[in-house]
Amino acid sequence: MATIKERDRQVIWHPYTPMKVWPEAIAIVQGEGAYLIDEDGNKYLDAISSWWVNLHGHSHPHIAQKVSEQLLQLEHCIFAGFTHEPAVRLAERLLEILPPGMEKIFYSDNGSTAVEAAIKMAIQYNSNKGRTSRKIVALQNAYHGDTFGAMAVSGRSIFTDAFADMLFDVSFIPFPSAENEAASIGALEQLLQGGNIAAFIVEPLVQGSAGMQMYSPAVLEQFFGLCRKHNVLIIADEVMTGFGRTGPLFACNHISTPPDIVCLSKGLTGGSMPLGVTACTQDIFDAFYDEDRTRMLYHGHSFTANPTICAAALASMDLLLQPDCEDSRKRIAQTHAAFAASISNHGQIAAVRQTGTILAIELKTDNPSYHNGMRDQLYRFFIAKGIVMRPLGNIIYIIPPYCITDAELQYIYQCIEELLLQLKTN
Ligand SMILES: Cc1ncc(COP(=O)(O)O)c(C=O)c1O
Repeated sequence: MATIKERDRQVIWHPYTPMKVWPEAIAIVQGEGAYLIDEDGNKYLDAISSWWVNLHGHSHPHIAQKVSEQLLQLEHCIFAGFTHEPAVRLAERLLEILPPGMEKIFYSDNGSTAVEAAIKMAIQYNSNKGRTSRKIVALQNAYHGDTFGAMAVSGRSIFTDAFADMLFDVSFIPFPSAENEAASIGALEQLLQGGNIAAFIVEPLVQGSAGMQMYSPAVLEQFFGLCRKHNVLIIADEVMTGFGRTGPLFACNHISTPPDIVCLSKGLTGGSMPLGVTACTQDIFDAFYDEDRTRMLYHGHSFTANPTICAAALASMDLLLQPDCEDSRKRIAQTHAAFAASISNHGQIAAVRQTGTILAIELKTDNPSYHNGMRDQLYRFFIAKGIVMRPLGNIIYIIPPYCITDAELQYIYQCIEELLLQLKTN
């Protein structure tokens, strides 16, 4: 009988995969804690939380239990004109933990749609208020998703090249790396002074897809402060950073100025199911609260606020808010810091970065890009070691599920050291 892997090749088109040069996919049949297990029984330590989504380990029994109960109670229902306990409860609980000022929860399906809804809210908020500002400011090399609006506010790159002429115009400011902070803040200030800006969108503290590029909370605070001063809406895209990745529950918790809109997905359900949230202030909601139907938000998806998925998110939140989850995040951050210090001067390393549970190591290369040839070599090295790692070009990173043990982390570090040795001798 054909294996899953063989059958896959006949019928599947995988995401972000050059199908001709990378035809093989590992067929996973089971998830358990920090591990994925394939059809031949091989175990892979999930160092990247399966595209940064998993928080508490795979197939967590608490989430599985709550989802199966909900499936038998109410699997799905339309969310326009109807509501249900899981969506309401999840909104209530999210608003308790989100940065201050968030008052309303708008549901969608994933990170990209959470961003789409945020962009539409921000643009229409301005027109509903009778303002003419329509432009969005974003950071160079940002990544906010793959739908058209999300692509438009993302940095122009190989990801967006094929559609470049179809993306709406966005003003990009330089990334605020340590040596570029003043230039980046200055560029934002200049754009805000120029007017016509409806919103500023940003991945707070860590730009994920750009290679886990990190910047300081002080800069984020200044960005937000400037937007406030100029009355420009702030969209915090916490799709990747949300739910504890940077230490506190949200990256925006590192600063005191709150955003106007927060986008969530990935860890929202503990990584078990797709769900998007766009949280906003009462002021934004009120700008759409009108008898005139041209002023309402025309956005929604068939599976908006699916109760089964909301039940998964509630179950994940039960686990997230337990003190031992915070302890685990602290433990991971401390363990990362010790390892980072031990390798930072290594000859093969260009930079080591860490924010909370996210550790990134940039390897030296003459050609630092997403399609750096090193990427496939690195990927295969880690797979051979039983580790799921998806390097971003020459950048390897660990963004683990919080259930990962010290021994498992040490195993990943040990393999990284082995890789560095190999790169040195090659
Ligand atoms: C910051 C950020 N925003 C949005 C997205 C898009 O999320 P999704 O892949 O669920 O559409 C991602 C995905 O990596 C992301 O990192």
